[in-house]
Amino acid sequence: MTGAQTSGKLQAHLSGDMRFDLLEKTLKRTRFRQDALIEVLHSAQDIFGYLSPDILHYVARKLKLPPSRVYGVATFYHLFSFTPKGEHSCTVCLGTACYVGGAPAIALALEQSFGIRLEQTTADKQLSLGSARCLGSCGLAPVLVIDGEVCGRMNSETALAKVYKQLEETHHD
Ligand code: FES
Repeated sequence: MTGAQTSGKLQAHLSGDMRFDLLEKTLKRTRFRQDALIEVLHSAQDIFGYLSPDILHYVARKLKLPPSRVYGVATFYHLFSFTPKGEHSCTVCLGTACYVGGAPAIALALEQSFGIRLEQTTADKQLSLGSARCLGSCGLAPVLVIDGEVCGRMNSETALAKVYKQLEETHHD
């Protein structure tokens, strides 16, 4: 008994990491179907930037699959990354609602500001930029996930300010 279930309400993840709530939305959308495993893994990679053992176990538990099977599928397709890329990450949702809401301009501002394209990491390994399909929070469009924090209603200025703040925080540690 993990204690994850309290008063009948399932908490997405004990850590309180909101990214698991986003992943939960994909799981619900695909009705926890085991044959949606690859779609779920794609979504997990979009949200987290890579697939950690914790994430793979979480998916296995939710889909009631043996972890070995989830690991097997994840490693068989050379689509997934198992290590974080940059120290910081910023994923831009390019799903329809976010796209229409201005996500391309945000992506362009980030690319120009850091001199890399989406899906690339800066040479100093400080920042990775990524993109995602719908993260399931369209009401907050345009949505970015910056170092695990879901940031809604962003624009180019707020996105750049937030990313620079994250980068600065490391330097002051
Ligand atoms: S399109 Fe971006 S959260 Fe749905």
